[in-house]
Amino acid sequence: EFAIVHTIAEVRETVKAWKAQGLSVGLVPTMGFLHEGHRSLIEHAVADNDRVVVSDFVNPVQFGPNEDLEAYPRDLDRDAKLVSGAGANLLFNPSPEEMYHPNRTTAITMATITEELCGKSRPVHFGGVCTVVAKLFNIVTPNRAYFGQKDAQQLLVIKRMVRDLNFDIEIVGCPIIREDDGLAKSSRNTYLNPQERAAAPILHKALEAGRALAESGEKDAETIKAKVREVLATEPLADPEYVEVVDLENVHPVATLDQPVLVAIAVRIGKTRLIDNFFYPEL
Ligand code: PAJ
Repeated sequence: EFAIVHTIAEVRETVKAWKAQGLSVGLVPTMGFLHEGHRSLIEHAVADNDRVVVSDFVNPVQFGPNEDLEAYPRDLDRDAKLVSGAGANLLFNPSPEEMYHPNRTTAITMATITEELCGKSRPVHFGGVCTVVAKLFNIVTPNRAYFGQKDAQQLLVIKRMVRDLNFDIEIVGCPIIREDDGLAKSSRNTYLNPQERAAAPILHKALEAGRALAESGEKDAETIKAKVREVLATEPLADPEYVEVVDLENVHPVATLDQPVLVAIAVRIGKTRLIDNFFYPEL
């Protein structure tokens, strides 16, 4: 059973029929142009739930004015093949008009947890992510929803929203899927020219050096950040936006690794902004 639908009403109707049969429902929210990272989320969802919905929607409200909304790659036919091949049952591909009423006035805002890392340079981003994910939760009413650790701050933000607003949904975090050379898979990797693509694995290399330090018992966050920056500096095309060690509750910088931390980086390679991270210890 697989279908592509474009309206909220069709999703509600389908999910209602599933729930009447007592079936569990998993949701994988995406912006499309799907790759192996998305596929692994779908496979986790298929393994855990009777039915799986994948949303495919480039959400305009999470893009800032000078970001890549127009350029963001799209390919619904290819996405549909990947989604059905991975065993999901419904691909929800709404238009912006279907998702957003022209006179909408309600949105989700967040404090504290969105102040650092990507929230700093992308002030409207996480509010837009939370708003669309809350809407998807209300449309699909899944038992579980799947998010990648690739977007680590997003995963923590969504978990916080669920805790704060009492969504009865289990949030499942899934590991980062990488290319053979270590580059985290991302729809935005398609922006890289061959020279930039060759430089991009430096993010993972730098983080691995940081992880090795943490594993050897280093507790000083500055020392770990300095090591990550040192490795990034060996790649002339890499321009770091942030290198940070943060706690998992507030996502604020910590001085010592005396609690579980997220080590996260954002690096520009040419015009393309790439992110990567690791949790220490692993989630
Ligand atoms: P998108 O960037 O399409 O990512 C959809 C999901 O796939 C996210 O949970 C992301 O963390 C996960 N993902 C992407 N690359 C991954 C990789 N290499 N390994 C593992 N998981 C990976 O994130 C969004 O869309 C949007 O913000 C969204 C949540 C859909 C709201 O619009």
